[in-house]
Amino acid sequence: MDKSKELADLFQSKRTYREFSNEEIPIDVIINCIKVGLRAPSGANMQPWTFCIIQDEIIKSRIRVSAEEIEKEFYDNQSLNNWHDDLKHLNIDISKPFLTDAPYLIVIFYHKTNTDNSTTYYASKSTGLATGMIISALHQVGLVSLTYTPHKMKFLKDVLERPDHEVPYLLLAVGHKGDSYDLPKIEKKKIEETVKIY
Ligand SMILES: Cc1cc2nc3c(=O)[nH]c(=O)nc-3n(C[C@H](O)[C@H](O)[C@H](O)COP(=O)(O)O)c2cc1C
Repeated sequence: MDKSKELADLFQSKRTYREFSNEEIPIDVIINCIKVGLRAPSGANMQPWTFCIIQDEIIKSRIRVSAEEIEKEFYDNQSLNNWHDDLKHLNIDISKPFLTDAPYLIVIFYHKTNTDNSTTYYASKSTGLATGMIISALHQVGLVSLTYTPHKMKFLKDVLERPDHEVPYLLLAVGHKGDSYDLPKIEKKKIEETVKIY
């Protein structure tokens, strides 16, 4: 079969999972998927990113405790009710068990400057591209991931003791899918709506 069709078919099952099994995964699998992301294009080839792989249970617990405090603030903030409404169909709440259940968390930072204080270019865009390539690699090796973005992310920098020039970008929880996870029903836009050929 044509390789592009094969790939398009493989990604029909690409979904975000919010529950993970405790099946172990060798860390080299995660590192290899990150290696895919490291080939991403980046503004002036600055590669303005850091990928922290967390397998340590104590650090995962610290991240979960802080994240759940921030989630409580987020859900208590009534000025964000429109946002809360837009999330309802995902059946998510302040509880974030995946932060301790997933075998790996990858916490991703972009660099607002280089270590010598010189300028980076399009750091957040570049890091987004690398992140997308990692998510794609994880899917191709049969793992699932959750893109997690708590409302405030500074705690990630504090817990992981990252330097000043690094800005928390997002967190990926990674593992094998949890058997009992009830995937929310979502629609994807049709190709005619999103692709315009000129
Ligand atoms: C930038 C970004 C931030 C996201 N943040 C969260 C999040 O904080 N919590 C969550 O449960 N899902 C989060 N998601 C996952 C989306 O809810 C999910 O991708 C969307 O509902 C489509 O579902 P699918 O990935 O299963 O196709 C995020 C996705 C992106 C791209």
